[in-house]
Parts: sequence; structure tokens; C-alpha cells
Amino acid sequence: MHHDVSEILVSEKDIQAICERLGKQLTIDYRDKNPLLVGLLKGCVPFLSDLARKIDLSVEIAYMSVSSYHGGITSSGDVKIKMDLDFSLTNRNVLIVEDIVDTGKTLDTIVKLFKHRGAKSVKVVTLLDKPEGRVVPFLPDYIGQTIPKAFVVGYGLDYDEIYRNLPYVGILKPEVYTK
Ligand code: PRP
Repeated sequence: MHHDVSEILVSEKDIQAICERLGKQLTIDYRDKNPLLVGLLKGCVPFLSDLARKIDLSVEIAYMSVSSYHGGITSSGDVKIKMDLDFSLTNRNVLIVEDIVDTGKTLDTIVKLFKHRGAKSVKVVTLLDKPEGRVVPFLPDYIGQTIPKAFVVGYGLDYDEIYRNLPYVGILKPEVYTK
């Protein structure tokens, strides 16, 4: 375990089981729907990569870059589009793939935006859900694991751009972000 991590919340094995479970479900739910998977960079990358390989359908994949944390440990709630999609959403069944839903502001904003752009359906699959962090009501359609209100890193999640490559999700020691 990395020395800045106090506890592993979601192990590599847990993540593999989550991807298999959600992949099976999505394969059933999106049959004949030609889904467009949209990853919100950068945190989505490991999860989208592992999950997509468990969906036994032909899918298309697009990325968008949005940001709300700006390097701190709490969400500013100010959602910025840094890089937009290069796909039309008109009549598409869109599945947004996220690493974490915390305040809910990012997904609330992006789901509304995608519907406004003409998507036929917009659903959200998230590896982690932190319901205690909600500032706006938001319920993800597919959840890997519900976690408590702690600052987590790894498997895509960062603190100041570090730790995204850890193969598990762990709690960051508070002394790392208070020093
Ligand atoms: C994280 C995460 C979500 C968002 C969730 O992204 O990937 O997009 O925050 O937080 P919310 O529910 O409070 O809105 P971040 O802005 O940290 O960018 P990153 O993926 O590049 O790390």
C-alpha cells in the first residue's frame, strides 16, 4: 500500500468484480441501443477502460474534460468544460462513465446539458458514490460502490494530479493535504 494511504476502500479484486457485475448489467440494458459511452476526464480513464471491456456490445466512446475541484480537496461546484465532445448526441443513448459522484454538481450539470443537446437517454454509471457529499440531489443509475465521506485517491482519482495510477481506491492520509 502507498505510504500516503491510510486504508484501502476498494481493492483491485473488488474493482474487477464491480466491472464484471456492471458490465453484465449494461450488456443486458443496452442491447440494440448502440450506446455512446462518455468519459469525463481525467478520473474516468481506468474505470472506463476496464468497464468497457466487460460490455459485450458494440459501443462508441467519447471523452469530455470537465473540472470542478481545481486542485483542492472539496468541490468548488463551479463546473468548467475544458474540452468538449467531438460527437453529436442527437438521438443517442448516452452512458456517462464517472469515477465518483460527490456533491452531484458535475453530473447534474452535464446530464442536463446532454439532454439539451438532443440525447435520447442519458444515464450515469459511477464507480464510487459518496451520497453524504451531495449538495444537489442526484442519483446515479449504476453504482459500483457507495463510500463514506472521506477523501479518496487511486484508480483515476487524484490529489493535485498524483495517485491516479494506484490500482485500488484508498483513503488519503489527512497530513498529506493539511501540510
Ligand atoms: C471529479 C470526478 C467528477 C467530479 C465529481 O472530477 O471525476 O467528475 O469530480 O464531483 P462532484 O459530484 O462534487 O461534482 P475532477 O473535477 O476532480 O476532475 P478530474 O477527473 O480531472 O480529477
